Amino acid sequence: MTNEPRRLARIVLGLTGGIAAYKAAELVRLLVKAGITVDVVMTEAAQRFITPTTLQALSGRPVLTDLWASGADNGMSHIDLSRGADAIVVAPATADFLAKLAHGHADDLLSTLCSARDCPLFVAPAMNRRMWTNPATRRNVAQLEADGVTVLGPGVGEQACGETGEGRMLEPAEILAALIAWAQPKVLAGRRVLLTAGPTFEAVDPVRGITNLSSGKMGFALAQAAAEAGAAVTLVAGPSSLATPANVTRVDVRSAADMAAAVTAHIDACDVFVAVAAVADYTVAEPSERKRKKDGKPLTLTLAPTVDILAAVAARPDAPFCVGFAAESHDVERLGEEKRRRKKLPLLVANRAQDALGSDDNEVILLDDAGAHPLPRMDKLALARRLVGEIAARMPQLTP
Ligand code: CTP
Repeated sequence: MTNEPRRLARIVLGLTGGIAAYKAAELVRLLVKAGITVDVVMTEAAQRFITPTTLQALSGRPVLTDLWASGADNGMSHIDLSRGADAIVVAPATADFLAKLAHGHADDLLSTLCSARDCPLFVAPAMNRRMWTNPATRRNVAQLEADGVTVLGPGVGEQACGETGEGRMLEPAEILAALIAWAQPKVLAGRRVLLTAGPTFEAVDPVRGITNLSSGKMGFALAQAAAEAGAAVTLVAGPSSLATPANVTRVDVRSAADMAAAVTAHIDACDVFVAVAAVADYTVAEPSERKRKKDGKPLTLTLAPTVDILAAVAARPDAPFCVGFAAESHDVERLGEEKRRRKKLPLLVANRAQDALGSDDNEVILLDDAGAHPLPRMDKLALARRLVGEIAARMPQLTP
């Protein structure tokens, strides 16, 4: 287990000859913006789709295209370039280039660099959907994965050829996100994390219900950050249209009772439980099976309390490491600390409900036995990564 992020300061970005090469310009821009030094290497075919000049302007560095005339002092650019690189990323990677890699060919600068590398290799395939499902491509991709190459995507969607299917290169932002995820410290390796996220929905009748403004963003970001940190992650999600983060097992639920049941079903197999969901405290005692008709008179609904999922988990004799959230409209620290003690939690994340619900960023105070630790405002994914570090630091060490 390492607490250090993997270095991602310098990468070699290889372009091969596919129409998605135009997206590489945007990828270079995003990588440079993220503070990463990018050395671009292009195959001959890639230069038919986009010019080295464009990539040179965006990367601010010479673009290399030729194994024989690379301009390196000692003529060993294939070794020099990958030495000191933290990763090689080939985007777009054509079917032909994947075949070359799978068979160890080294007949141009990029394939030579890949075979002489001592750093991780990522490929972002881009091709027609039939080429992607072609048995030879399947074999080559399986071989590359077996060789430790990370295959990013491809995505599904409309293709340049007019067809629709699997084979589109991932979007530049998705490729950057995958690289940043890879670089995260693996502080939760070997841990199993269960989370709740999102709102719940308590039915009044078949078409109406009581819910709240939670978007699920914080819980989904935490699930993502825990998976990036090497944990096996199960996310119990209330109604939310957010995409499931990579390497996360999602269990969709609707009501607070469904959420409690799903947590009970998964709790035995977890070391950490993070309750991020905004769970309804009350449910409709007798939801109508038929759609209610209005009659012009006031309507009284009887609400019955729900189970406090987090308190029930924390009270188990074999309780996992439990983390709670507290959304308070005022007096955040005092009410949060009371909640932490009442629910017997080693760690609680307190925030102002008005700030947190539905927004993209958040400002929280961590509460633990040592006191209150305010964190600066940050976006929810950055906060999630920080919280994962804080959770890992407070957990009992794994015995080797
Ligand atoms: N929680 C839970 N099950 C519930 C209610 C809350 O697991 N039925 C969890 C939430 O996921 C959160 C923490 O308890 O981690 C606190 O939730 P919050 O809504 O802030 O507080 P409540 O316990 O509901 O108390 P109150 O609404 O009175 O502030």
